[in-house]
Amino acid sequence: MATSDEERWNNRFSAEHYIFGQAPNEFLQRKAGGLPPGKALCIADGEGRNGVWLAEQGWDVLSLDFSEMGQRKAAALAAQRGVTLSLEHGDVHGWVYPWHRFDLVVDIFTQFSDETERARKWQGLRHSLKIGGHLILVGYTPRQLANGTGGPKDAKRLYTAELLRQAFAGMEILHFEETETVLDEGPGHRGMSAFIGMLARSKALGRRTGAIKGQSE
Ligand SMILES: C[S@@+](CC[C@H](N)C(=O)[O-])C[C@H]1O[C@@H](n2cnc3c(N)ncnc32)[C@H](O)[C@@H]1O
Repeated sequence: MATSDEERWNNRFSAEHYIFGQAPNEFLQRKAGGLPPGKALCIADGEGRNGVWLAEQGWDVLSLDFSEMGQRKAAALAAQRGVTLSLEHGDVHGWVYPWHRFDLVVDIFTQFSDETERARKWQGLRHSLKIGGHLILVGYTPRQLANGTGGPKDAKRLYTAELLRQAFAGMEILHFEETETVLDEGPGHRGMSAFIGMLARSKALGRRTGAIKGQSE
């Protein structure tokens, strides 16, 4: 049975237009553009703008989201662009993240998670990256509270470089970029926005603990 969050996203995505536009996130475009294509996981990929763009660049993309309406639009966008996108219907907080499967994991604007959910989700992302695989993450910073142009109102869900540095301490952080600029990513992300982008690379994590559903490394 659909949760109220799923229903809310399905309602939002039932609009004919693409809420977050059809163009990829700009930070993703710049940072993934230089990586050799392989297997990619896009979590909470919604209407597929990021997953479809990666597929167009030659990536084999698994697009994970719990909104059926979003995934229908992602499939339509992929068909329109003539690329294949594998769609996985699932909850990013409960999904069993496979061990060392992906060369790239993309986490863009997923600040719906509370702190416990976020820790589990990010642990899953780290587990699912191959050694040497990259993580591209984008989210709003606390400066966004003053802009009022989208994103969570709860400061604990907003990202700082320090928070990301701690959360991904086991990874090699290659690049941080904090920006305050006018976003125009469809009606869902429009106006002056403060966000941070991170590019990180997976290092050897130590002993294998298998596919996880919430247990620690
Ligand atoms: C702000 S949108 C971002 C979509 C996409 N990443 C982008 O940048 O266009 C958040 C997405 O998260 C999805 N979502 C929210 N909670 C989720 C959950 N617990 N599991 C899976 N998807 C979720 C929504 O359906 C929606 O597609």
